[in-house]
Amino acid sequence: MEIRKVAVLGAGLMGHGIAQVAAQVAKYDVYLRDIKQEFLDKGMSMINNSLQIFLKKGTITENEVKETLARIHPTLDLRETVADADLIIEAVPENLKLKKEILSEVDKLAKPDAVLASNTSSISITELASATTRPEKFCGVHFFNPPQLMKLIEIIRGAKTSDETISTIVEVANKMQKESVIVKKDCAGFIVNRILVPALNEAVSLVWEGIAEPEDIDKAIKLGLNWPMGPITLLDYLGLDTTLSIAEVLQNDLDPKYRPCPLLRQMVRAGLWGRKTGKGFYDWTKK
Ligand code: CAA
Repeated sequence: MEIRKVAVLGAGLMGHGIAQVAAQVAKYDVYLRDIKQEFLDKGMSMINNSLQIFLKKGTITENEVKETLARIHPTLDLRETVADADLIIEAVPENLKLKKEILSEVDKLAKPDAVLASNTSSISITELASATTRPEKFCGVHFFNPPQLMKLIEIIRGAKTSDETISTIVEVANKMQKESVIVKKDCAGFIVNRILVPALNEAVSLVWEGIAEPEDIDKAIKLGLNWPMGPITLLDYLGLDTTLSIAEVLQNDLDPKYRPCPLLRQMVRAGLWGRKTGKGFYDWTKK
């Protein structure tokens, strides 16, 4: 199926980046929808900032910045967003009930042949697909943060996803100049988070047990494993709230051994979610 118009639901940390890649690299016509004007404004300003970085580096021209922005239509109107969309990518907060509600609504408004995909980082694709009447046209499309720079997309097959849907999304990933991997079975955490989240949780446990300072844990992993950023910085970057919710899904769906560290839970309760709230393990208000 040929994709021309893409709808992205949610203009947050992931949604704005996905919309940008879809418009800038794949040159799709993109409708970006959120529920409040201030969220849309913030998303568009993050897109603008990112485009300005690429422009300064000479990766793209002034004209490409203009063309990319012209291809992105921010809107509050769900009906307008999904009408005529060939592909709808859901990137709303990581909450099962919320995702199912919006997907069920979108399913009613979208064209019958439109493909629906979720950028969930851990929730069951089969369960999300069950909120729609087209589970064969539904799959997971998991981008990595920041979507503008990270090369990978995990494509996740739900229990009823058709081969045609997978091929369509592989083609979309190619157009976005991303590398893709297929997750053949719908399983919590997919590939990357199944490995990453337990590692991040272990880093929090090292702090909780008083074994090392966050700075030294970051230094150890950066220099000892060549990670581009240490696990504690990465936690602040991804959001402790997001990481906790993924850890809880791994724990509930896969094995109790994935139990989140009490410190992770405590910090989420205290609103120390990382860069998005200004403070996590580090203070981002001064950076
Ligand atoms: N758009 C365009 N350019 C950007 C950008 C954006 N959104 N963000 C950063 N950049 C540019 C910077 O301007 C900088 O350019 P120069 O090198 O020319 O100065 C370059 O990218 C590097 O940025 P920084 O110097 O700020 O920081 P960095 O060197 O640490 O690189 C990074 C940033 C690419 C994000 C790198 O740190 C990295 O790869 N970190 C790990 C990220 C990661 O692991 N992501 C996956 C998380 S898991 C996930 O997302 C899944 C999930 O479900 C939880």
